[in-house]
Amino acid sequence: MEKSGGGVEKVKKYYIRTFGCQMNVNDSQKIAGILKSLGYEPANHWQEADLILVNTCSVREKPDQKVLSALGEFKKVKNKNPDAVIGVCGCLAQRAGYELLQKAPFVDMVFGTTNIHNLPQLLKEAERGNKAVEIIEEIDERETELDRYPTVRDNKYTAYITVIRGCDKRCTYCIVPYTRGKERSRRIGEILQEVQWLVEDGVKEIHLIGQNVTAYGKDLGDVKFYQLLYAVSQVEGVERIRFTTGHPKDLDEDTIKAMAEIPQVCEYLHLPIQAGSDRILKAMDRGYTQKEYLEKIELLKKYIPDIALSTDIIVGFPGETYQDYLETIKVLKEVEYDQVFAFKYSPRPGTPAAELSQTEDGETVSRWLSDLINLQKEITFKKNKEYQDKTVEVLVEEEKEGKFVGRTRTNKLVHIDSGHNLLGEIVKVKINRVNRFSLEGEAVKVISEEAQLW
Ligand code: 5AD
Ligand code: SF4
Repeated sequence: MEKSGGGVEKVKKYYIRTFGCQMNVNDSQKIAGILKSLGYEPANHWQEADLILVNTCSVREKPDQKVLSALGEFKKVKNKNPDAVIGVCGCLAQRAGYELLQKAPFVDMVFGTTNIHNLPQLLKEAERGNKAVEIIEEIDERETELDRYPTVRDNKYTAYITVIRGCDKRCTYCIVPYTRGKERSRRIGEILQEVQWLVEDGVKEIHLIGQNVTAYGKDLGDVKFYQLLYAVSQVEGVERIRFTTGHPKDLDEDTIKAMAEIPQVCEYLHLPIQAGSDRILKAMDRGYTQKEYLEKIELLKKYIPDIALSTDIIVGFPGETYQDYLETIKVLKEVEYDQVFAFKYSPRPGTPAAELSQTEDGETVSRWLSDLINLQKEITFKKNKEYQDKTVEVLVEEEKEGKFVGRTRTNKLVHIDSGHNLLGEIVKVKINRVNRFSLEGEAVKVISEEAQLW
């Protein structure tokens, strides 16, 4: 870039630290897309950045604390570069942006979850030395402007696409409806356009994301989630489709049938149950009983016998007794999930559950949680062992320490030995070693080029 005086102007660099869910990851990828369009380049380290952005999560208390300690570290960037801009966005910024400015007064820019498209203007303001703050309570109607920007991704072969924003469920523990707003589905044409761009860019696996993807289309009225699955599968070049997160109440038979029928939809589903006890499910306002949830699992296994499943669990919800907790354990033993994400309940200010009093002490809940995690570790290992000597399909996503690394359709991580360059290929891999958290094997055939047999 030439300066008017003839000197060379330094290219500005950005660094983004992302906390939380896939929606945040995808938002950060879009933010990187905006910054690229403004001429910014990624920094290798935050200390070299002219702009540091922290994309925050607020789903539990721990991430809140992590953000403050990260900001404390990033503040040092100003010692060397006083003009550097520090910004905060995401769920914590939406919920407590002004409070955050008091706690971390060196922050120059704060914006909410629906104001990302306004980043160019906010950045200009911050670069002039002003505090740039935009946190809109209602949804900003212009948020869809964000969809025009291409994402900047680390992974070349698999990509997220946000298909629905917000959540209309009111699970009593959850902050998300307050930080992400009501459900807004993106128009199907726009989603398909983005799928097309991604495929042209070399992407093979499309991962549809949203807080509640199975509610897709409810607000549009003329399209349902299963129809979106069929439409995405029609785009030439889409080799794999995944989606997260589905809600057990909205997962209907049409969707399960579509999952079974569409060849590209992977045999894997993350279906959060949160708790096994009907009493606790009711107090959480989840909208289903254990029996109804298990019926959905049965239906999934009927249509897709080799499906891999994962779930989210909250331990220690207010009022949860040992008997309630044992119901959760019972479900884990019955379903045999491939993976479980378990969390200790964390009261979130402003949610209905935060008003309820805790029955069990923290130590007991921590013990329940670690017992549950230990049980699941064994189940996961047992499920992995089923892969010994089997040949599975893997999309190779990266090369690391001399091995190729990818995922099976069932979302298992596989390390592959091969003398050929397998990056971006869909290969058949014979599994010859099973670990607790991953599989190892050797490539036997490149599916993308059927003729080439080794
Ligand atoms: N405390 C603990 N875990 C929570 N989650 C959501 N809210 C809370 C909370 N207040 C968990 C749920 C959800 C996952 C993303 O985070 O299990 O599915
Ligand atoms: Fe939160 Fe429940 Fe919505 Fe999931 S479905 S984002 S847990 S309110």
